[in-house]
Amino acid sequence: MEKYAIVATGLKKVYRALGGRSITAVDGLDLTVGAGEIFGLLGPNGAGKTTTVKMLLGLTHPTAGTAEILGIPVDRPESRRKVGYLPEGHRFPGYLTARQTLSIFARMSGMDAARIKSRIPLLLDQVRLSDWADVRVKKFSKGMTQRLGLAAALVHDPEVLLLDEPTDGVDPVGRREIRDLLHAEAARGKAILLNSHLLSEIELTCDRVAVLRRGILVAHGRIEDLTRKESQYKLMAAPLDQAHVSAMQALGATVALQNGHAVLSVRDLAHLNQLIDRLRADGVLVSELSPLRSTLEDVFVDLVRADDSPAPGTEKVS
Ligand SMILES: Nc1ncnc2c1ncn2[C@@H]1O[C@H](COP(=O)(O)OP(=O)(O)OP(=O)(O)O)[C@@H](O)[C@H]1O
Ligand SMILES: [Mg+2]
Repeated sequence: MEKYAIVATGLKKVYRALGGRSITAVDGLDLTVGAGEIFGLLGPNGAGKTTTVKMLLGLTHPTAGTAEILGIPVDRPESRRKVGYLPEGHRFPGYLTARQTLSIFARMSGMDAARIKSRIPLLLDQVRLSDWADVRVKKFSKGMTQRLGLAAALVHDPEVLLLDEPTDGVDPVGRREIRDLLHAEAARGKAILLNSHLLSEIELTCDRVAVLRRGILVAHGRIEDLTRKESQYKLMAAPLDQAHVSAMQALGATVALQNGHAVLSVRDLAHLNQLIDRLRADGVLVSELSPLRSTLEDVFVDLVRADDSPAPGTEKVS
């Protein structure tokens, strides 16, 4: 059995636009997603998330690099057989009911009538739309439409789920329901790759993330590793004035005073204790000392903060 459900190696996409310009939407992306894993693909608008998903689905051809799903290269249609896809901003025809919509998707995936009959009520229940089964989709809220889209992606019980902004427009209760559903699917061994701008949501949902910026992977790893601040501590102590700060800086620490506390960047635990000894020797009373952790949002903003240079993804084709 293959080790990873999704493997992308050196994936690159250059769009040729009118006017002779080219846009490098994705630039040399390597990523892997294992069975039972929920992987978050993050990045600001235009970072290349949707393009990545489209390449994994064979909807757009990579300019360079390769990708496989369940060991099958994505340029082969069989690679999509066990994939469920929720497109970004999808729409279903408003005149269909939820049941009819799912029935169409089930038939398109080759399910027989008996299986469709038993599967659809289960799916509607899974996304909490059982009471709305025979209501036309045009009456659905955005959150309900998203949940129906998820049910459509799950219709053939796929091994791999590619979800582009699954919680877009969904309220907190709906988001929690979707999160629980995704965790349940992952626990059943499904590999899930999702895009989202909702970083607090990603923090609660995903095991690992990759951050794209202008098509380039700028960070990837487990969320707990990405958010751990290397040797940074919050210090509450009194009195803490500029003389104490200077004393700690003289010992090699970086010190920032903010809202009545200090943030210390130290080499290691021994260094931290050296600073505290120095403060205590001056009669400073320490009331709190705790390691700092950033939110995923902090990490993300630092990674993708726009700089003043022109977009490197855009270049003139000679
Ligand atoms: N078909 C296309 N032709 C030309 N350029 C495209 C095409 N599709 C996407 N792009 C460009 O490629 C870049 C990446 O777009 P993509 O849709 O992958 O970003 P995204 O990360 O999904 O953004 P968002 O968060 O807004 O959904 C953008 O600069 C976009 O304008
Ligand atoms: Mg997108």
